[in-house]
Amino acid sequence: MRFDPKLIQQLQTARRITALTGAGISKESGIPTFREAQTGLWENYEATELATPQAFQRNPKLVWEWYQWRRSLVTQAEPNPAHMALVLMEQRVPTFRLITQNVDGLHQRAGSRNIIELHGNILRTKCFEHNHLVDHWQEDGQIPPRCPVCGGQLRPDVVWFGENLPSSAIQRAAAAAQQTDIFLSIGTSGLVNPAASLPYMAIEAGALLVEVNPDHPPLTIYADYQLTSPAGEILPELVTQIWPSKGANS
Ligand code: OAD
Repeated sequence: MRFDPKLIQQLQTARRITALTGAGISKESGIPTFREAQTGLWENYEATELATPQAFQRNPKLVWEWYQWRRSLVTQAEPNPAHMALVLMEQRVPTFRLITQNVDGLHQRAGSRNIIELHGNILRTKCFEHNHLVDHWQEDGQIPPRCPVCGGQLRPDVVWFGENLPSSAIQRAAAAAQQTDIFLSIGTSGLVNPAASLPYMAIEAGALLVEVNPDHPPLTIYADYQLTSPAGEILPELVTQIWPSKGANS
């Protein structure tokens, strides 16, 4: 795979790189994306029936079980070479920030340390009523299970449509977008705000925009470089070409 030598040089000399990832980076781990034709989750399910507080209030059992299904996909999945490449970038770039919209925890499992999770994490559970995180609960057949503190219903610790993002996460993400030399947008359709606004903040602040996506979402026209192969192919190759003399563990 050949990249523009100028891009490689810019990545080599960048002091600050911020990456934003979306569902596309986990596709090669076997986790479906949301908006792709045929295979996307929102192609087959109604987001409003599954990923809103109202949906949960209407049918908590359906929502809990749908997230249990997604949890099982996530726990069976493994990080792929794209996740691993971002671990190497974190180790080699002086200031590297990783912002993810994904709730699958695969960046953590790959070994990335400094991760800003915008949409929560599907492996965590919290109380629907009071929002506190819950580690253990009794499996007494109730679906969803009950909060051991207040007896209310439990839900996944993810951000649903109509809910606010964790304020510290979005503040840190905005700062990471505004204070970077290069912004990498990887595997996201860029259709859900406020995450979708981050690349534009980066451009406005003068960053170079590099997009990794086999498709051409609306952001593509603003990208300085469009890398249109799957992230699991592009990112490891990019890392190898940026730091050719370093082995995977150096
Ligand atoms: P989408 O499903 O909207 O977009 C996934 C993107 O990944 C698409 O643009 C694909 O072209 C691209 N893609 C597919 N395979 C790829 C690969 N191998 N390498 C690189 N890119 C690939 O997913 P998101 O943009 O993450 O939010 O969706 C954003 C938010 O909408 C999600 O976090 C979720 C969803 O509803 C909530 O649930 C709040």
